[in-house]
Amino acid sequence: MLTRRRFLGYSGAGMLAMASGCRPANLDALQDRQDPWSANQMLLADKASRIDRQKLVLGYPINMNTPPSAFFDWRQKLIDVGINTFAYNNVGNPFEKSPIPYNSHDFERETIKNFAELFAFPQKNTWGFLSHSGTDSNMHGMYMGRTILKGRTGVIPKAYFTVEAHYSVQILGDLLGLETVFVETQPDGSMDPIDLRQKLAANPNQPALIVATIGTTFKGAIDPIDHIREAVKGHASFLHLDAALFGGYLPYTTHADEILYQLPDQPNSARYDSIAVSCHKFFGFPSPAGLFITTADHFSEFNGLFGKIHNPEYIHHVPGTITCSRDAVKPAEFYFFSQPSASANLTEDAHAILQNASYLVEQMQSRLTNLQPIRASHLSNTVYFKKPSDKIIEKYSLATMQLSMNQQKHDYAHVVVMPHANREVLSEFLADLEHDTVTRAL
Ligand SMILES: Cc1ncc(COP(=O)(O)O)c(C=O)c1O
Repeated sequence: MLTRRRFLGYSGAGMLAMASGCRPANLDALQDRQDPWSANQMLLADKASRIDRQKLVLGYPINMNTPPSAFFDWRQKLIDVGINTFAYNNVGNPFEKSPIPYNSHDFERETIKNFAELFAFPQKNTWGFLSHSGTDSNMHGMYMGRTILKGRTGVIPKAYFTVEAHYSVQILGDLLGLETVFVETQPDGSMDPIDLRQKLAANPNQPALIVATIGTTFKGAIDPIDHIREAVKGHASFLHLDAALFGGYLPYTTHADEILYQLPDQPNSARYDSIAVSCHKFFGFPSPAGLFITTADHFSEFNGLFGKIHNPEYIHHVPGTITCSRDAVKPAEFYFFSQPSASANLTEDAHAILQNASYLVEQMQSRLTNLQPIRASHLSNTVYFKKPSDKIIEKYSLATMQLSMNQQKHDYAHVVVMPHANREVLSEFLADLEHDTVTRAL
């Protein structure tokens, strides 16, 4: 076959390019690859074959619904003004003037302000940005806590969290060079404040960077932030909330108090220092992104210290963010979800997932007692149970984990009831589980 490379090789242009020595040899290998068009078709066909099965993903906290058409209209409007058509970049602090004029810092600021209001941060005292993911937001929260505590005390803090925290928290602790203190859990999987108090007392000379999880990854437990605050009184500490999943939906329910920065009857009484929420989990934003929100006071204390290790000359200000280049498309697109017009849908989804989680656990408790299903609380959209057959795990993309129950290890799986997990999907799942139980008993 006459490939493009050979054709160019025979042609004058190719000879000229080779003779001038300006053609790197690795480009030849690229040119010789299979016809790219047929390869693209195969890859696209593979994706298309999965599209109607997306609702069967029950094991991970990703909203597989397609966002409303208004979201795509908004996306088109952004494209019409150039966003996502060339290299916009949100480098730096969205609350400062950017050296790159092609950014979406204005949308980013508005998004942060709107969500900060939803979480009841003081209106004039908020700071944040749209990160690459929940993990990235946790990284900023932990880095900010580490920097502030070291600045205040001269000592690097220890990190306190439970084994139920997301695995990335352990990675981030390692990355930040933090010694971990594992706090025991209560029966539902939430942090035990009594054990926390004891562990803090055993480490009186090191400040405490506490990562509390609002919706633990596997069991869906909620670490009790007010009891944690009580336990840390008198100890230099910073409390970061990892609310990757529950932080998305709780504000739209009657349980919003669980996640508020300050309670309506106790203004001026901060319950935590920073919060991380994933955008692709509850909101169903089509690609990974995260909210990171803290107070402007914390940010300025952090930035004063950060400025000592970071030379701001290149971008004309201390960025306040760890990464340099940041996506400009996602903040502009995610702005859609911070608008009042989006909240009716989000409220509906938030109610639906809690109702459907109740339905699932009740049905399993009556029809599938052998699986011993557990839901940590009525605020959780997660149900975990004894691991079914691999066929079920595969069909519904279930996450599995070995858990210790009554001093014995057992294999478990869980379902995270996201907005796409409607009654129809759950009914199919329950029927499959019943069939699986019968087949396995034979
Ligand atoms: C509690 C918790 N924190 C953090 C993460 C990681 O979030 P992301 O996937 O947005 O990085 C997860 C993901 O499942 C999670 O469950």
